[in-house]
Amino acid sequence: MASKAARICGAIAALAALAAAAQPGAVKPVAVPMRDLKWGTLNFLHTTDTHGWHAGHLQESQYSADWGDYVSFAEHMRRKADEQGVDLLLVDTGDRVEGNGLYDASTPKGKYYYDIYRQQNVDIICTGNHELYQASTADQEHLQTVPNFRNNYIASNLDYVDPKTGERSPMAQRYRRFKTKNQRIDIVAFGFLFDFTGNAKNTVVQPVKKTIQEDWFQKVVRESRPDVFVVIGHVGVQMQEFKDIFRAIRLHNPNTPIVFFGGHVHVRDATSYDSRSFAIASGRYFETIGWMSVELGSDAPSFHRRYIDNNILGLYHHTGLNASTFPTEHGRNVTSMIAKARAELDLDYIYGCAPKDYWMTRAPYPHENSIYSLLEKQILPAIVVNPKRAQVPRLAIMNTGAIRFDIFKGAFTRDTTFIVSPFLSVLNYIPDVPYRVARKVLGLLNSGGQIMDEDFVPWHLMAIPEQQVPRKSVIYEKKPPKVSDSMGQQVPLGRFGGGDDAHDGPVLIEGYTTKDDIGDDGDDAVHANIDFHVVPNCIQAEIAFPKEKEPETVDLVFFDFIQPWVLFALKVSGGNQTAADVKSYVPDTFSDLMSEWMKKNWPRKCD
Ligand SMILES: *[C@@H]1O[C@H](CO)[C@@H](O)[C@H](O)[C@H]1NC(C)=O
Ligand SMILES: *[C@@H]1O[C@H](CO)[C@@H](O)[C@H](O)[C@H]1NC(C)=O
Ligand SMILES: *[C@@H]1O[C@H](CO)[C@@H](O)[C@H](O)[C@H]1NC(C)=O
Repeated sequence: MASKAARICGAIAALAALAAAAQPGAVKPVAVPMRDLKWGTLNFLHTTDTHGWHAGHLQESQYSADWGDYVSFAEHMRRKADEQGVDLLLVDTGDRVEGNGLYDASTPKGKYYYDIYRQQNVDIICTGNHELYQASTADQEHLQTVPNFRNNYIASNLDYVDPKTGERSPMAQRYRRFKTKNQRIDIVAFGFLFDFTGNAKNTVVQPVKKTIQEDWFQKVVRESRPDVFVVIGHVGVQMQEFKDIFRAIRLHNPNTPIVFFGGHVHVRDATSYDSRSFAIASGRYFETIGWMSVELGSDAPSFHRRYIDNNILGLYHHTGLNASTFPTEHGRNVTSMIAKARAELDLDYIYGCAPKDYWMTRAPYPHENSIYSLLEKQILPAIVVNPKRAQVPRLAIMNTGAIRFDIFKGAFTRDTTFIVSPFLSVLNYIPDVPYRVARKVLGLLNSGGQIMDEDFVPWHLMAIPEQQVPRKSVIYEKKPPKVSDSMGQQVPLGRFGGGDDAHDGPVLIEGYTTKDDIGDDGDDAVHANIDFHVVPNCIQAEIAFPKEKEPETVDLVFFDFIQPWVLFALKVSGGNQTAADVKSYVPDTFSDLMSEWMKKNWPRKCD
């Protein structure tokens, strides 16, 4: 045991060098025990659902590398591939926009993002739903990212509608066929989006089931006979769309390896649909760089996956480099582009200092450490105020999915506002709803598919995306993680953090401890578990209620996003209110009201 522990500590010592890159102001990374990458003939790095986090996580040490560091990393990994005579491809599966000040804070949105993002040489890239909600975002995708990746962008089931002519044409090529640089592996790649229906009018998403019956697709899967099919998509790897594509390809290609790169559900996940196929999803918010390798050549292909924490120390580890040898000239340039953009956007402007951490799902709800309890008890009562109706008792209902990230102890900045609540949510209301009707709404919204017909109203869309598709990989289990030592043996770690005998093993940082269909050894960094608590679809604050008795009527205030569900719940509760009764409650967006609250209630100076 002692020698194994020593080896693990040795690996940590090797990682203890100070980081030189990442964004100014980012917290210093901490070294943790690592699992290595296994190279194959064909290797991939994968990002998905980065949502504007290209500056990295300035408040979380284990994800604080930035897009410039990823540029350096990819350069070194391509060199390593060349040295071994194997191939490396970079994949991105969409939702690159919305959710971080670096994208959202500029006018127009994405003023800096497009040029920063394009610095990475991504070999296969497709579209997510967030590129398509706003017509202007889809226009920019069409005008910037598609031409920036002219030969690499794939849109198998997505069309763009020209605003001038009204003409509909493929957003990008339907598929891509190419040979890899070193092994000359013949690849056919597709790029899909799940059956999304919330897009603006300037795009058309064709259902996957229909696309795979089209002549062009059938011709490719029947006649192309590549060495490998690579299917990338803004699709969860457990979702039906990928399974349908898999079947359609496999039907005519019984032995060809098929690899899938998915996203959308914001989880680390991997599975295989049969022994010659493999699928990986690489998390969210640029916390994760997915790694997949395929060993071809022998009769049966073998597959390997890793979820690489976007931690500069881990990137050093996987490249065998250090703070002075790792950053490339191009990577440094991208890091300074990002720093310049963040400074111009004044993203570090402090509204107030959070006195402690407030969690979305790491604390139960209700709880003093829950962000939703903070909203229900303190923020909503203070901001849901219409001066003309300040005395009217009201119920304020918010969907938990309106919050997208935790609040960490310390600076709550202009950037944090976009991170925590990226949507331009506003508050609507229906005046004077009988309380006996209004009081039933929350329960109905939270009963979801049990009382309501899920097919009629997609209730789950009100919750956070991590909860929208139930996955075992997000339900973290309370058990000590295991780490492979350098001999490839599983070494259980006795302790993780604190306690008298903490010297038995390294102190682990809380982070991903993923369990997927392949096993529980996917994460590159060995972390302590994070608790995951399920939260309801919606929360509710009672405001200005009389002390003695129940009110006769209340103003029913709610986030505009959930209006269809609220109206439906009112109807089920016996109300006669319709969309015609809905009015705007206050003119400001929720994000503005929230940051004003922080300004008033939290100290400006952080310790
Ligand atoms: C990084 O590695 C190089 C070459 O091995 C060495 O010369 C240099 O001192 C190291 N730098 C740091 C900061 O550890
Ligand atoms: C990095 O930036 C410098 C200064 O703008 C420029 O001269 C150089 O060509 C850039 N290098 C790369 C690899 O992008
Ligand atoms: C709705 O119901 C209320 C009583 O709950 C009644 O006063 C009102 O007239 C009704 N409105 C309509 C349009 O039926």
